[in-house]
Amino acid sequence: MLQSSIYARKATFYFLAKASGILRPHILKVSVMKIGIIGAGNIGGALAHRFVAAGHEVTIANSRGPASLQELAAETGARAGTAQEAARGNEVVVVTIPLHRIPDLPAGLFADAPADLVVIDTSNYYPQQRDGMLDGIEDGGTESGWVEKHLGRPVVKAFNSILADHLQNGGKPAGTPGRIALAVAGDDPTAKATAMALIDGIGFDTVDAGGIADSWRQQPDTPGYLKDYDVAGVRRALAEATPERKPEWRATPNSPGSFEQPA
Ligand SMILES: NC(=O)c1ccc[n+]([C@@H]2O[C@H](COP(=O)([O-])OP(=O)(O)OC[C@H]3O[C@@H](n4cnc5c(N)ncnc54)[C@H](OP(=O)(O)O)[C@@H]3O)[C@@H](O)[C@H]2O)c1
Repeated sequence: MLQSSIYARKATFYFLAKASGILRPHILKVSVMKIGIIGAGNIGGALAHRFVAAGHEVTIANSRGPASLQELAAETGARAGTAQEAARGNEVVVVTIPLHRIPDLPAGLFADAPADLVVIDTSNYYPQQRDGMLDGIEDGGTESGWVEKHLGRPVVKAFNSILADHLQNGGKPAGTPGRIALAVAGDDPTAKATAMALIDGIGFDTVDAGGIADSWRQQPDTPGYLKDYDVAGVRRALAEATPERKPEWRATPNSPGSFEQPA
């Protein structure tokens, strides 16, 4: 059995056991995992720091190639690789590049990946600032549903609702009052449990936000977005979210502008 399957089962068991009260949080032993990160910017860099600090083996990639990542590799302890190297031979792959760049990823990146590979998507749609008009989202599809179509495989949506700096520096031991909680959405319960255990291991609580069809509840402009709520706050925010896309979160004929001058 693949190491990832064993891990996923342990993760599922842990969450069921924790929910039923037969385990105390400190009993969790997160196995060392092989993790690929595609995207080495704000979120990719923050995750490289946190995952390596938690004992995982991390390969990180960007669009310019490993030579451009030597400084980040030295600083974090992650290995610099190509996008293909980050996508293959790992148990979890985090895709964390600007949404409009997803179609630029190498074709067939996950074609040979095992079925139990956990792919985590951190994307947010910023049409007026960065992404321009992306058909399939403007007309009501979820951002992670759009990513799934382009990657050709299911994803778990996580890390999209917290600022990179807070992700890098805001983690706390399990049980700390007010510990920040992250919404996690996905259709595969095992993949979602793996992602949740990984997140718990780097210092954050998690809230199951449902499937990818429900993931609009954690997208930009929803009540919990970038709020650093704890579990109760994230649950409340997810419940209070409404699905409409406001005009300021839609592309215009001049999109994209920039973060300084949205258009
Ligand atoms: N910043 C935040 O606080 C935050 C919070 C939550 C979610 N998010 C979301 O997470 C995603 C990433 O955001 P970010 O702020 O980390 O982005 P970023 O700082 O702009 O970094 C983007 C990274 O993606 C890489 N990249 C771009 N195109 C690529 C390609 N085709 N192949 C491989 N790598 C590629 C870039 O590499 P090169 O430089 O070599 O092109 C760069 O390392 C976005 O969807 C964003 O909305 C961001």
